[in-house]
Amino acid sequence: MKVHIQTADLFSVQAELFVVGVYQHDTTVRIEHISQDYQRLLDDAVARGEFEGRLLQTLSALPAPLSPSRRILFIGLGPENAMTVHSVRKVFGQLAQITEKMKIQTVAMAVPKGPFSEEDAVTAATEGWLLGSWQFAGYHQEPKEQNLPDLHISDVTRPDSAQKALDYGNIVASAQNLTRDLGYRPSNMLYPELFAEEAIRAGNRHGFSVEVFDENKLRELGMGALLGVGQGSIYPPRLVIMRYEAHADKTLALVGKGITFDSGGISLKPPQGMEEMKYDMLGAGAVLGAMCAIADTKPHVNVIGLMALAQNMPSGSAYKPGDVVRAFNGKTIEVTNTDAEGRVALSDAVSYAAHLHADWIVETSTLTGAVLVILGHEATGMVADDDNLADQVIRSGEAAGERIWRLPTYEEYKDLYKSKVADIKNSPGRDAGTITAGMIIREFAGGIPFVHLDIAGTAWTKEGPLNKVDGATGVMVRTFVDLAHNIS
Ligand code: BES
Ligand code: ZN
Ligand code: MN
Repeated sequence: MKVHIQTADLFSVQAELFVVGVYQHDTTVRIEHISQDYQRLLDDAVARGEFEGRLLQTLSALPAPLSPSRRILFIGLGPENAMTVHSVRKVFGQLAQITEKMKIQTVAMAVPKGPFSEEDAVTAATEGWLLGSWQFAGYHQEPKEQNLPDLHISDVTRPDSAQKALDYGNIVASAQNLTRDLGYRPSNMLYPELFAEEAIRAGNRHGFSVEVFDENKLRELGMGALLGVGQGSIYPPRLVIMRYEAHADKTLALVGKGITFDSGGISLKPPQGMEEMKYDMLGAGAVLGAMCAIADTKPHVNVIGLMALAQNMPSGSAYKPGDVVRAFNGKTIEVTNTDAEGRVALSDAVSYAAHLHADWIVETSTLTGAVLVILGHEATGMVADDDNLADQVIRSGEAAGERIWRLPTYEEYKDLYKSKVADIKNSPGRDAGTITAGMIIREFAGGIPFVHLDIAGTAWTKEGPLNKVDGATGVMVRTFVDLAHNIS
């Protein structure tokens, strides 16, 4: 599963399988020392319409008679002018999955060229390789064995900076895989206390400090909203505060929704697919993963990671429709639907980020089913009040290959969440559901530049080049790490 870089050209690498990238519309092989037999084989396949170089399309070539030991796989890169660093990530993710099935130990491919640096290509290739091959271990009595081949990236021209780029990709992808792992864990094995312990362990491993507020501390601080969401569960809520200290003058706060299980509470969800609600903590998971990679790669900005952890359950002690809770900043929320719990839990975490004098607050959550109606699984929905911060986050998303789509925040939407008995009501109804949800959370940011990212459609998704099976993606980890390095 390891990735190595080599300055040698492709066929000088000791490998069982050589992979050759081919552009669509111009399928000339651009690799030195390749036997003409292979070009002929490729041309033949193109002529027969068997292969055209579409992104991620593959063509396997058996050893040619003149070069018996060279097993070659052609992989489509798509049209040359559409090549991006994210296509590199996907190509290597796909490759990791294909070669695992081929029962091969070592794979070699030249560093892809395009409108990006060699370093960015190596980072993306490494990330693709580690993400594409990752799978949740599961709880089977007989653990499944995985055969994960090593990758050699050949033809590297600047080995020192390429090695740094490889290390960076390793750090980020491993952190993202940690997030995915947390996402897969069922709620009986990852409830708020255990999640907080995971954060403490991660802090020890990666070198960031971790503070945990238990239910008594939450009560003392007046965090009635997070307490309200968690009060129906035998597992009490937690607020986790993680700090990466760069001794910089600016501080970025990352805030995540960590509902370890969302049954809907008294406003109970229908049973169909309810088991997926163990993933309702992936906002917090992304914040934890990002903190690990941030502490390892050391950007010049202080970063505070906050996780609002609770389990949303119906019970005799659960919060009920009509209840009014008071958040840390003093604002009151009328709970008209206990299933709109994310915004309630986050109100305390976001007001605490403002209390800590963050310069920017970026919050992420699996918040609304409505975002799936708008964007499906293809993009994260954004609600923001600061154009600069919004643009920075979108740019980081682009660099990371994670699509983010900004929604409007017209003043008129505020009328939708007015309450007769409290400052805000938590469930304004169907209209503009993703927008009102983000705007409600913004009410707790104390006027600090704020971005909300709704990952309900992107945090878990179908299988793909970076997702061996359908499930947790670890979305926003790469975006957050890039953001920490580029925010100013
Ligand atoms: N965790 C859910 C949102 C969700 C739904 C995530 C589907 C992933 C897939 C959230 O807590 C929720 O229940 N939201 C409600 C809000 C409504 C009651 C205002 C929703 O979207 O239906
Ligand atoms: Zn939820
Ligand atoms: Mn809910």
